[in-house]
Amino acid sequence: MFFLTNIFQDSVFAQIGALTCLYYMVKFSWNLLSGIRIYVLSKFWRIDLSYFGEWAVVTGATNGIGKAYAHELARRGLNIVLISRSLEKLNATAKEIEQQQGKKTKIVQADFTSGPDIYGPIEAALKDLNIGILVNNVGKTYDVLPCYFLNVPNVRKAITDIMNCNALSVPMMTSIVLPQMLERKKGVVINISSEAGSHPHPMLTMYAATKVFVNFFSRALNAEYKPQGIITQCVMPLVVSTNLTHDTEVNSFVKQADDYVREAVNTVGITELASGCLSHALQHFFVDNLFPEWFRLSQFGINMLHKMIEKRKPAVEKWRKKYKTN
Ligand SMILES: NC(=O)c1ccc[n+]([C@@H]2O[C@H](COP(=O)([O-])OP(=O)(O)OC[C@H]3O[C@@H](n4cnc5c(N)ncnc54)[C@H](OP(=O)(O)O)[C@@H]3O)[C@@H](O)[C@H]2O)c1
Repeated sequence: MFFLTNIFQDSVFAQIGALTCLYYMVKFSWNLLSGIRIYVLSKFWRIDLSYFGEWAVVTGATNGIGKAYAHELARRGLNIVLISRSLEKLNATAKEIEQQQGKKTKIVQADFTSGPDIYGPIEAALKDLNIGILVNNVGKTYDVLPCYFLNVPNVRKAITDIMNCNALSVPMMTSIVLPQMLERKKGVVINISSEAGSHPHPMLTMYAATKVFVNFFSRALNAEYKPQGIITQCVMPLVVSTNLTHDTEVNSFVKQADDYVREAVNTVGITELASGCLSHALQHFFVDNLFPEWFRLSQFGINMLHKMIEKRKPAVEKWRKKYKTN
């Protein structure tokens, strides 16, 4: 009797073990195939973005990732509305796009840290344009390197600036553009979040929290309006070499903005949540699995982060001196 019970138990455990292995094998294979479809095949098998409308609107369009989206979408057949603070940079970028991509441009000067009052004039400027794509790209982090929440200089201003720029801008701009997309039953909203928004992120506490907002807003919006022809995609980059990252040196981990965006645009319509490029998708996979949340939030994890930031300080100081920023 004892012998029979043992065999029975063994076979139950063996079956549970086999089923668990099968579950992980199927999950891994599915993720691998999806990754290949999203980041490799999309280069050749992608949707025609000019189908969605004549114009694309890009916030924060005069530098880095936003500027790269403006160029890439123009290259793919759309006219571009550029929205940023500096009139000089807006004019220069608009001219560049018209000359290099042969598409029309329109510029709108706005400061997204200013709160809700800016959206009336933006709505008026976008009136009568057939807008197929909105890229909610504008974003800012602390004016200093990542640090403890209360060490952020002028912390209360930083809180409202970051909330207004990174969080408020996304639903506000969407509320301006979505009604006309719904009338035409087609449109794309691309929201630039960040890898920092996939977990709580000590030393970038405020920034990461606003990016979680972008992430959840995008995914829920996609569920609400996808049946009516509107695609919402949330893009979560790791490090891209731009002003925001003090022009960090490009290597196999850090992407150039143009290269990053070319890959990210290929994934529109294929995935609602994208790291944006193959290199960042692989990094996300490893970081997610090798550094669990309990580790990131531990004192040891924070100390490690702190050391990395200290190591980076001299290079950032040098960058600041070169570009005469604060
Ligand atoms: N770079 C990265 O590694 C990285 C990683 C993850 C996520 N992201 C996200 O990607 C987005 C773009 O980042 P980026 O690295 O390309 O930044 P960036 O190089 O600093 O460019 C920011 C753009 O936004 C405009 N801008 C900044 N503050 C503004 C404001 N208050 N009102 C209006 N326009 C403003 C800037 O032009 P003006 O100065 O003329 O206004 C510029 O065109 C952000 O949402 C960021 O959080 C970046």
